[in-house]
Amino acid sequence: MKAFQVIIMAMTGAWVTMGGAVTQAKDVVPGALWPDNHGVHINAHGGGMLVHDGLIYWFGEHKIQGRRGNTAQVGVHCYSSTDLAAWTDRGIALAVSEDPGSDIVKGCVIERPKVIYNAATKKFVMWFHLELRGQGYNAARTGVAVSDTVTGPYRFIHSLRPNAGTWPYDFPEAQKTGPATEEGLKGWTEPWLAAVKAGLFVRRDFKGGQMSRDMTLFVDDDGKAYHFHAAEENLTMHISELSDDYLSFTGKYACIFPAGHNEAPAVFKRKGKYYLLTSGCTGWAPNPARLAVADSIWGPWTALGNPCQGVNPENDLGPEKTFGGQSTYVLPVPGKSDAYIAMFDMWRPRDPIDGRYLWLPIEFTERGPSIRWKTAWNLNLFDQ
Ligand code: GAL
Repeated sequence: MKAFQVIIMAMTGAWVTMGGAVTQAKDVVPGALWPDNHGVHINAHGGGMLVHDGLIYWFGEHKIQGRRGNTAQVGVHCYSSTDLAAWTDRGIALAVSEDPGSDIVKGCVIERPKVIYNAATKKFVMWFHLELRGQGYNAARTGVAVSDTVTGPYRFIHSLRPNAGTWPYDFPEAQKTGPATEEGLKGWTEPWLAAVKAGLFVRRDFKGGQMSRDMTLFVDDDGKAYHFHAAEENLTMHISELSDDYLSFTGKYACIFPAGHNEAPAVFKRKGKYYLLTSGCTGWAPNPARLAVADSIWGPWTALGNPCQGVNPENDLGPEKTFGGQSTYVLPVPGKSDAYIAMFDMWRPRDPIDGRYLWLPIEFTERGPSIRWKTAWNLNLFDQ
């Protein structure tokens, strides 16, 4: 029996069972301080979840105080839970390097780490957005690390720009030739946007590999894994298929919403449909969330608009600012049917360690999925 299926004691002292009848569960309070088992606010920003052997693992960016906390001074932090309410600190899963020659030297940028398990190789594979130290956000690389155990330590393998020397699988023949620089085009004008939509940056980055900033991973029911990443100067989202061992790219990829300016991807599948939650691109500042749906991971993807409703009374922010948050992951709740939690970060770039988490249930209504503000809620909601 899996740990999340057995009866566990929530921090409130109420008895909870995930997978069976739930009596009372501990509340999730979006935006509050979330203490771990040591009473310390959870330090796992831009996070992702992995459900493995009855435990839920949360991997995220370990931040420190002050502006310097926006760079990786420590690494990727891991926590585990049986009930999504009480979290145990499992330490640093991937540590930054002291070696100035390493891509992940202390002071680089490591963001949005995601871990998946490969049943064939029995390895845990972590991918993350990597920016090389001292280069701002110009490197736009993705990094990969691997471990035999879920909590690590993960061994950094390498970083790269995806799909060098390969065209998107459905890239029109006519677009393979054409200008590969912005020469003669003024940024953000109609002709520039048209050129981006027609593959200008794909051609520019063809040789060296496509850009990869905000990213996530998604494993489909057949075990195939996909790497979603903000490419083309954050203008276009790319979906890149991973190799069977999840350690590299197969070279098959698609560009979705060309010049649509999507980042912060979070992907989930429900009743055979794929959903992609994203934000626009305004750095640490919140903007409206967007949801898209597709029957195949390769598309076509259809925009559904902003799924958010209601207002966060703490900051008076509603759908126009995603309640003050930015998407990072959507978790299908283990042991519950048709239960999905949308997870967002409330960034605090001046003091990143104080960044908050905003988790809300996704409701599936006749008008489509919606994410309604809730000041406090708990897992019992999924049993109603
Ligand atoms: C956001 C992105 C974050 C981080 C930030 C840096 O747009 O979603 O993960 O990269 O920019 O400004």
